[in-house]
Amino acid sequence: MRIPIYLIGYMGAGKTTAGRLLADKLGWHFVDLDDAFQEIHGLSPADYIRQFGIEAFRRKEKYVLEDLAELPIEKVIYATGGGYPCWKDNMECLKELGTSIYLRWKPEHLAKRLSLTDLSERPVLQGKTEEELLAFILPQLEAREPFYTMADIIVDVPFNVLSDTNDEQIAEYLCQLIKSKTK
Ligand code: S3P
Repeated sequence: MRIPIYLIGYMGAGKTTAGRLLADKLGWHFVDLDDAFQEIHGLSPADYIRQFGIEAFRRKEKYVLEDLAELPIEKVIYATGGGYPCWKDNMECLKELGTSIYLRWKPEHLAKRLSLTDLSERPVLQGKTEEELLAFILPQLEAREPFYTMADIIVDVPFNVLSDTNDEQIAEYLCQLIKSKTK
């Protein structure tokens, strides 16, 4: 398995939470690309989108990921932003840089998980009920699926209402998978 590892998937899929747990288990570095964006540009992705719009954000987001890939560290788990893989040739870039892993969830389960979180850092989802979240997620996820499913590995996440348990299970599963495929 080529490294680094890029976790991809919709908002709420556990890219950050499970990714951090996974990196701890492996003793690898962990980089959340939304946090890296904020460090580099001084605004969170949510604030940047509010101020400059989604196209400007996507352009900058692309270069954050590609610039970090130049660093001479290989044992890294990256949590990508949920929309990153679906812009221009970003998915091809990921596949050239390392191994991409898609954390695939059913839309109802994403809506449930997201409804249990603080949505203020997710401007497009803010203030939505679980039902409204699902109505929003369904068409967007359908449009994003062709990109996400280009991933090198697809992990179908079994749903468990206790979201922490899910993230731990995802991390453990990925840890075993990565250990078995890397030296
Ligand atoms: C986005 C997801 C966010 C962040 C930005 C846009 C999206 O990342 O990059 O708000 O379009 O799905 P997370 O998936 O980490 O929440």
